[in-house]
Amino acid sequence: MTSVVDFDCAVISQEMVLPDVIKIVFHSPEIASSAKPGQFVQVEPSKGLFPVTRRPVTINRLTDDGFELLFDVVGRGTELMSQKQPGDKVRILGPLGNGWDLTKGKKWLLIGGGLGAAGFQFLKDSISDSVLLIGASSKDRVVSLENSIVVTEDGSVGSKGLVTALITEENLANADSIAVCGPVVMMEAVWNAVPEKHRHKLQISTESRMGCGWAVCDGCSIPMSDGGYKKCCKEGPVFPGIEIDWKRWKEAGL
Ligand SMILES: Cc1cc2nc3c(=O)[nH]c(=O)nc-3n(C[C@H](O)[C@H](O)[C@H](O)COP(=O)(O)OP(=O)(O)OC[C@H]3O[C@@H](n4cnc5c(N)ncnc54)[C@H](O)[C@@H]3O)c2cc1C
Ligand code: FES
Repeated sequence: MTSVVDFDCAVISQEMVLPDVIKIVFHSPEIASSAKPGQFVQVEPSKGLFPVTRRPVTINRLTDDGFELLFDVVGRGTELMSQKQPGDKVRILGPLGNGWDLTKGKKWLLIGGGLGAAGFQFLKDSISDSVLLIGASSKDRVVSLENSIVVTEDGSVGSKGLVTALITEENLANADSIAVCGPVVMMEAVWNAVPEKHRHKLQISTESRMGCGWAVCDGCSIPMSDGGYKKCCKEGPVFPGIEIDWKRWKEAGL
């Protein structure tokens, strides 16, 4: 039986850091003490009837006695979450899922797309040697992370172009592990840009529409290259890139 724990977490602070992007810090020594980079939490948007299900958000970084989330306001659930104020108590389930596999070596190449780069702060805090590439549509979508190389589609910050243009044989060869997080189309473009000899290093942080978040509803399946499926919430969200059936995943949409 899966063991999941639900907590009442107090909001410590809340601010809009980019247009429609909210950073919120929760007090929760329990979640902070057991969370691993790449894991997520399920947040209850409101005590009311709607939305019925929680909303999954990656743990962006740990604080002294809690954790930080960074999320886009895209619908009713995240809109309600954005209205939380310091002192409010929010029901949060977590930490959930499997994060980044830190056992594959010390040197990391991190490739983030838009807000997908958010969770990299926690990973960067847990490793000593990393190169970080961030691609976004414009400066309004760039998560500020130290020592990152940034590229934007409109050239409003960094050079103009796509993040795949920053991928070189040198940074692929130097890396023991390559972490990728962003929209599915961006992650697929990275997968296609990485030569086959380096693909075994790719770790992909997947996303799926979720119900429960702890493997009971079957709502979050990711198609695998062996023809089967794995649950994003329990066996993921991070999977080796070579295990994913990219064609079926993209066709499935979200
Ligand atoms: C493991 C995991 C980690 C996540 N981490 C983050 C994070 O750190 N920051 C962040 O901003 N978002 C994150 N998401 C996405 C976030 O959960 C959704 O944006 C949120 O659930 C939308 O809820 P809503 O009620 O506001 O919007 P809805 O009304 O449910 O949907 C509004 C729009 O958002 C799209 N959407 C809904 N769910 C997802 C999803 N899972 N992925 C992509 N698009 C979605 C819908 O297709 C629709 O177009 C994560 C999702 C997963 C599965
Ligand atoms: S969200 Fe319910 S099984 Fe994954």
